[in-house]
Amino acid sequence: MATEPVNVSEFQELARLALPKMYYDYYSGGAEDQQTLRENVEAFRRITFWPRILIDVNRVDLSTSILGYNISAPIIVAPTGSHQLAHPQGEVATAKAAATCNTIMVLSFTSSCTIEEVATSCNAVRFYQLYIYKRRDIAATLVQRAEKNGFKAIILTADTPRLGRREADKKNKMIAPQLKNLEGLFSTKATSDGGSILEAYVNETMDPSLSWKDIEWLRSVTKLPILIKGVLTRADAVKAVQVGVDGIIVSNHGARQLDYSPATISVLEEVTVVHAVEGRVPVLMDGGIRRGTDVFKALALGAQAVLVGRPVIYGLAANKGEYGVRRVLEMLKDEFELTMALSGCSSVKDITRRHVRTEHERLL
Ligand code: FNR
Repeated sequence: MATEPVNVSEFQELARLALPKMYYDYYSGGAEDQQTLRENVEAFRRITFWPRILIDVNRVDLSTSILGYNISAPIIVAPTGSHQLAHPQGEVATAKAAATCNTIMVLSFTSSCTIEEVATSCNAVRFYQLYIYKRRDIAATLVQRAEKNGFKAIILTADTPRLGRREADKKNKMIAPQLKNLEGLFSTKATSDGGSILEAYVNETMDPSLSWKDIEWLRSVTKLPILIKGVLTRADAVKAVQVGVDGIIVSNHGARQLDYSPATISVLEEVTVVHAVEGRVPVLMDGGIRRGTDVFKALALGAQAVLVGRPVIYGLAANKGEYGVRRVLEMLKDEFELTMALSGCSSVKDITRRHVRTEHERLL
């Protein structure tokens, strides 16, 4: 591609050209038939707008606040692993871009830079994403390190008792993650008889017995707010509120876990309108956000903010590091701002359910 990208999807092709096939496939792929991977994006396309006219949009204010932290737009960096496979500066570059864009960076448990490196590199508001291993002391240690280093919330990813079946990673014999945060704490020589070493590593370490009662345990080791990531159903949203979580992230892990899970945007409303949830805790969502219009649709259906996974990595990998991530976030913000103006919304609180129509409503 000779010219600069004009939308975030164009970064994907640049990333493909820049990366070894094994890494590109790891970042871009989904589980099994990748039906959910396609649906996460396609489901947004089936939602249309009901724009309002003749409303003063001379000034459009994108800013919002999540858990009391003011951010420039409801667009947050999702936790994704191993950023140094995409760029030598890894998560440090990503965090700097988040800081410049005045948004929140969620650092992955499987990051290639340490909690301390990211904390000292920038003043972005940072949340820490947690997986819970069979060895619980590791989670406790990392949570406390994150807390000590100024991270503001813990995101517990709850959809990964085992790793989803990612067939490209099997073929490529995807390497195990380099978990610098675990150095000196834990090591394993995960091996695989010819398949994905990453998959063998995850299945050996992750605690598949994790259950709702463990939220209480997590509370006992941290004072930070706890958000639960991976909710897709009304029943689990109700349960999450009952056990006292501080926020919910509607997510299917970027379609990398259970294929044929619903597209997240298609179940978002089911979660946000639940009486038990409504207004009490923030509901965020991720999966398939590629346009500012997608951000608007998610907010109209009840999300307080969205998280962006792959586009951030593609920006990082297109050999541009911090600059690439910043460009991706800015493009989404610019498109979102335009969508608000063209829909007649001058602030995020003006975005309502009446601004969008789902496929079902169009047929009525
Ligand atoms: C992820 N995701 C993820 N989630 C998590 O909780 N911990 C993690 O370490 C990772 N790692 C990870 C790596 C890669 C390469 C991808 C693509 C995704 C899931 C991520 O947080 C988010 O849910 C999705 O990426 C959102 O979908 P999009 O924006 O990629 O479509």
